[in-house]
Amino acid sequence: MKQEWKLPSLKEAQKRTRREIVVERALFAIPQQARMLGAGRKYLIHTYGCQANERDSETIAGILDAMGYTACDQEEEADLILLNTCAIRKNAEDKVIGELGALKRLKRQNPDLIFAVCGCMAQEEDMVELMLKKYPQVDLIFGTHNIHRLPQLLMQAAMSHERTVEIFSREGEVIENLPVRRFGSHKAWVNIMYGCDKFCTYCIVPYTRGRERSRDMADILAEIRELKAQGYREVTLLGQNVNAYGKDRGGSGFAELLRESARTGIDRIRFTTSHPWDFTDEMIEAIASFDNIMPSIHLPVQSGSSEILKLMGRRYTREEYLTLFHKIRQRIPNCAVTTDIIVGFPNETEEQFAMTLSLVDECRFDGAFTFIYSPRQGTPAAAMADNVPIDVKNRRLQQLNDKIAFYAHARNEAYLGKTVRVLVDGPSKKNDQVFSGYSETNKLVNFTAGDVRPGDLVDVEITEIRSWSLNGRQIAAAQKD
Ligand code: 5AD
Ligand code: SF4
Repeated sequence: MKQEWKLPSLKEAQKRTRREIVVERALFAIPQQARMLGAGRKYLIHTYGCQANERDSETIAGILDAMGYTACDQEEEADLILLNTCAIRKNAEDKVIGELGALKRLKRQNPDLIFAVCGCMAQEEDMVELMLKKYPQVDLIFGTHNIHRLPQLLMQAAMSHERTVEIFSREGEVIENLPVRRFGSHKAWVNIMYGCDKFCTYCIVPYTRGRERSRDMADILAEIRELKAQGYREVTLLGQNVNAYGKDRGGSGFAELLRESARTGIDRIRFTTSHPWDFTDEMIEAIASFDNIMPSIHLPVQSGSSEILKLMGRRYTREEYLTLFHKIRQRIPNCAVTTDIIVGFPNETEEQFAMTLSLVDECRFDGAFTFIYSPRQGTPAAAMADNVPIDVKNRRLQQLNDKIAFYAHARNEAYLGKTVRVLVDGPSKKNDQVFSGYSETNKLVNFTAGDVRPGDLVDVEITEIRSWSLNGRQIAAAQKD
């Protein structure tokens, strides 16, 4: 194995130089020799983690399609298996490590199988070292900033039969000419920015995804218009911190982007994730003013204790979060608000945890993702001593989850007997006589209906509520194109 590559460096990835954001419109190209590399070959992508990874997998699929590969869904059939990985918590990594072991047998059956690991774990020094040392079955490792190089990398891996590793730790560009194969037929992800500059002390994302860089508004709007023309009904604007959109280029910000996206006339616009720190009144106003911007905001709080928030580097206090929260619920009364909460941050006291519980009592969230703190190598929090035993953390998580479920149910009670508009995804997973889709406030709705198809917008009367879903029946077909 030739050592032509460098390991990823978290230190390098931390650097933020004040360079211009470069928009590359011709960087991606498939070399002539790689054009037919995929002919007669099949690929399979396993995607872990967040929507950013889902969207990256759609780009990877688009590139592989352009190289002549065809997608398959059986590991045994595949000539190329890619794991698009997540590094947010240790259990996300453990899943991938488990999968790496399990896939070893496939390599014995098919020695030509190419096995690739990409995504956020590929940006971590210790993980790449581990894969290089312990998992010889991995043929190709490439980072989140190297996706556009996939044709060259695959060619190298396939022809040289040597391990290929390429990971850029820093980047300053937005690449606009990448192909895409959308996995959904009526809902689409639209990246509006990449990376994150917030550096919350527990979080690996600013290291794995690099510096904050926004796409040009004209490119985003052109993508939404094209999706609308193709029949898509819903777009979700994606960024690690969508409120910071445009700040890196000193141009128009997220409120303006929301308004302009709404003016494209697409049926539904969602966005994720918002950071409470730069959520402005202008954004609230934009969400309130357009019917096609969905009244549903994911607003991670992480903790209800100002002391813990400070240690987390979150840039707001409990009181500031609550002020913003109430402003949103006041201006957009039907708005669903969900959140993320971490329990057991280093040295979190019982009183500090109680502050989190009382914040949940005050906000009555529609839902929440809750996590036990997981130290991430290279982050400031990982260097903090931690005196909270794991059984205490587990108990806190359980207590919090019970409260979250209680309020999710309580919030859903308001829907009983009401009519909600639902974008149909298809027959429900459990019962094909029942359809499912999401309400404007992002509630999962299971309902009986006549002849409906994925992508239809239908009105459903809610007849029964659960904590995590609503049940009902269709009352009339809403507009169809
Ligand atoms: N440990 C536990 N949870 C984390 N999150 C991010 N980093 C960590 C970590 N080190 C959670 C946060 C974030 C969500 C995506 O994952 O709550 O909002
Ligand atoms: Fe996981 Fe974060 Fe990477 Fe998304 S950005 S895949 S959540 S580590």
